[in-house]
Amino acid sequence: MEKAKPIPKEDGLDNSLDVLREGYLYITNRAIGFQSDIFETRLLGERAICLRGEEAAKLFYDNDKFERKKAAPKRVLKTLFGEDGVQTLDGEEHQHRKAMFMSLMSREALHRMREITHKQWILAVKQWESQQEVEIYEEAQELLCRVACEWAGVPLPEDQVKEKTKWLAAMIEATAAIGITHMKGRNARSKAEKWIQNLVENVRKGEIHPSEDTTLYAFSWHRDLRDKLLDKEVAAVEILNILRPIVAVSIYVCFTALAVIQQPEERQKLNNSDEKLLKNFVQEVRRFYPFFPFAPARPIKDFTWNGYDFEKGVLTILDLYGTNHHPNLWDNPELFNPDRFNDWNGSPFNFIPQGGGDYHTGHRCAGEWITIEIMKESLDFMANKMRYEVPVQDVSFSFNDMPSLPHSHIVIQKVKPLFEK
Ligand code: HEM
Repeated sequence: MEKAKPIPKEDGLDNSLDVLREGYLYITNRAIGFQSDIFETRLLGERAICLRGEEAAKLFYDNDKFERKKAAPKRVLKTLFGEDGVQTLDGEEHQHRKAMFMSLMSREALHRMREITHKQWILAVKQWESQQEVEIYEEAQELLCRVACEWAGVPLPEDQVKEKTKWLAAMIEATAAIGITHMKGRNARSKAEKWIQNLVENVRKGEIHPSEDTTLYAFSWHRDLRDKLLDKEVAAVEILNILRPIVAVSIYVCFTALAVIQQPEERQKLNNSDEKLLKNFVQEVRRFYPFFPFAPARPIKDFTWNGYDFEKGVLTILDLYGTNHHPNLWDNPELFNPDRFNDWNGSPFNFIPQGGGDYHTGHRCAGEWITIEIMKESLDFMANKMRYEVPVQDVSFSFNDMPSLPHSHIVIQKVKPLFEK
């Protein structure tokens, strides 16, 4: 039998602190140093294999080789994902639950998302006109909390908008945080889960009647493979798996604002609101800026790939950010260039800001299409439907904040709508 190739190995008893220090660039930095898209390290007290690139993504999303059980760190489940949600399932159970998510993403549902986002931007811009200045990140969180609840059929009384926005945002901001921010995230999750569990109970008792094409209706009545309704706890985790990431799109909205400000020539090209050009710009925002750094999984069995031995159960991490910036896949990856998407080959494994592979059978993000709809509409507003001034501010962002954001959160002043009021 041929001898296995040795996997380059980083020294150290545990290198988790380097991940916190280097953030999104942790895998890229070592891949450059080792001249290898695969290397071994130790993270969170265990052996870990790190991978980047298109071939690696093909491997990582092969359901015959990898599973998600016990892959995500506990602290992520306690804040970002919630426990027993679709992210932690495998096999038939995963496919059954995922089908529920994907059934919410019909063409009509995407169209409804676009219309709701449009309506909320109109309302927001009109309000901003009377404000001295506006912080895009915070405002986008609130705007998207309204969008998320309306789209998902979740009642949101006006006097609760700020509170619910805060809960949903805290879960996102807590993911990689330690100390107080992490505890805030846990606390917010527990309040948010109770809020949604009550709504699920009310739907089941017939006290509220969300429309049948909404998330609240669908998950309240979803039956598992044994034909049982989901426990209200699990239904709430899944409904929050829709609400929370819609609010998280505020991070992309903030980076979109940054790109609009920093790329006047690219902005100019958008002035006819051409759908294809809006989409190219949004795709480049998702490729270029850091958001979701890595995805974790574990091999189901021992196998050999490209001469390297993989052992059952060993934590394996795919570099999403690094794959989107891989120099073998992208020309001048550190250049912001929406036109590159004119000739993108559409591979499900080389452009993976929201995961790769197949939506239905794998763990690729269920909300990728609605993310793009929200972003195109938001871009059109920021590029074409409002006038504003941009004061001097620190728009830099760092690679070791996760999630990363422009430090100023993008402040604009003297907002004037450029649409009929
Ligand atoms: C804000 C921008 C977003 C980013 C950067 C993002 C990123 C991701 C990533 C990286 C994954 C995991 C892929 C993997 O494990 O291989 C994922 C999964 C998921 N996302 Fe998103 N997402 C976003 C927005 C959304 C939205 C708007 C929704 C729903 C409305 C959503 C729902 C989900 C769900 C349900 C999963 C789990 C899928 C599964 O395990 O099968 N995401 N997302």
